[in-house]
Amino acid sequence: MNVLEKSPNFQKFTKDILSLEGITCMPGTLRNPNNAPESKAYLERQAKSESNARSYPRKLPFALKQAKGIYLKDVDGQVYYDCLSGAGAIALGHNHKVVQDAIREQLEQNMPMLTLDITTPVKEAFVTEIMNCLPKEFAENAKIQFCSPSGADAVEATIKLVKMATGRRGMMAFQGGYHGMTHGALSLMGNLGAKQKIAGLMSEVNFLPYPYLYRNAVIGTEDIDGQCSIDYIENLLTDDESGVPKPAGIILEAIQGEGGKIPAPIKWLQEIRRITQEQDIPLIIDEVQTGFGRSGKMFAFEYAGIIPDIIVLSKAIGGSLPMAVVVYNKKYDTWGPGSHAGTFRGNQLGMATGTATLKYIRENNLADNAAKMGELFFKKLREVQAITSCIGDIRGKGLMIGVEIVNTKSGFLQHGKPERFEKLSRRIQYECFCRGLVIEIGGRQSSVLRFMPPLIINADQVDDICSIFRDAVIAAEEICYAEN
Ligand SMILES: Cc1ncc(COP(=O)(O)O)c(C=O)c1O
Repeated sequence: MNVLEKSPNFQKFTKDILSLEGITCMPGTLRNPNNAPESKAYLERQAKSESNARSYPRKLPFALKQAKGIYLKDVDGQVYYDCLSGAGAIALGHNHKVVQDAIREQLEQNMPMLTLDITTPVKEAFVTEIMNCLPKEFAENAKIQFCSPSGADAVEATIKLVKMATGRRGMMAFQGGYHGMTHGALSLMGNLGAKQKIAGLMSEVNFLPYPYLYRNAVIGTEDIDGQCSIDYIENLLTDDESGVPKPAGIILEAIQGEGGKIPAPIKWLQEIRRITQEQDIPLIIDEVQTGFGRSGKMFAFEYAGIIPDIIVLSKAIGGSLPMAVVVYNKKYDTWGPGSHAGTFRGNQLGMATGTATLKYIRENNLADNAAKMGELFFKKLREVQAITSCIGDIRGKGLMIGVEIVNTKSGFLQHGKPERFEKLSRRIQYECFCRGLVIEIGGRQSSVLRFMPPLIINADQVDDICSIFRDAVIAAEEICYAEN
């Protein structure tokens, strides 16, 4: 019997795993990251040559060699479930056939790889497919701007677009929001960690309270629909003594991702749409992380039945390769030629893989699979919550799931709920890693464990992942409560 067959969950593993070679350890088996000599050597070399700003290798100390479907394999032959999916960019799982075929076709036919913003049949097909995915009412009046291939650059383009179209100077964003790491995008970020040492960020950005219902952090009252936040925002925008000029745009995530997988209430989104319409302020929805099925709908704003003015898209849209665009109502198309540019906005390979991926998501209704698998995750995670003591909140939609870790034993409260427990959430992430499960961490005080698997995940895999997570939580609780 080989390692694969000996695994207790052998029956549940899909054929994807068979395409990985030289497996030494399967997900669900405990391993010690210090006993992974190849990964250790890579990490040491990486630390010598790469910037101190590197982040993931500090939390996930491995070097990767192969990846297929939901599985990653490191250089020591250890296999992991990937619930990080390239921070949400690998929608179909690693090396999906439609993505590989699109790359092969592009290469075999000697198609151009980079064309700046010169059009091609590949680009035209991509634009058509993006429009097919968008709500018809939006797509009918939409224009698209290709950006340098990062979500942050698409946010930069959007800031310029709305400033030029409205002639206004300021922006409004939300506490807990994340829009990227470039100067303008960083100015719109809630998290202070990354920005407080940076001088001269974009001025005239005002932050608004995002409804974080578990803790009602800003408001401090029971506020089911985020009505207190709406009252505050409406007052700010209509009071001629508010001290805050009307902004060029309001940007938000319908489910905050990096901020801790916090979904906005549907009524709140509808109210924001009403207010921005009444005040003639462009509503920008950042769907970089939520877009293309992840939330259980094609776009997360669709839960509220609203139509934004501008949508920012990246990650999944490139089908694993770099790609970012802004799609907007043509009434804002007032900027002149060259107002936004970037050499790699013509990345044809990303357009080919993007078209193949979006088509596959749409035709196979993967949003629906994300919704169903998300429900299963919730059920299983609630079972873990019932037998452990540190899970304060389980939230999200579809395959955008957050688990907020709290300290129920210290007796300290934050906004009426047990205090966040960063040490424990970090330990759980590590214990997951030691059992072959890669999950992300985020939110305030890094207290939220975030599940973001590829959209092709199946029920057996959800089951297996939640069992590994349960074992990791139990092990981490034992260690952290004993130390505290
Ligand atoms: C909602 C949102 N907007 C923008 C970005 C920035 O994208 P990128 O990292 O590609 O610049 C991210 C990245 O995580 C994101 O989650």
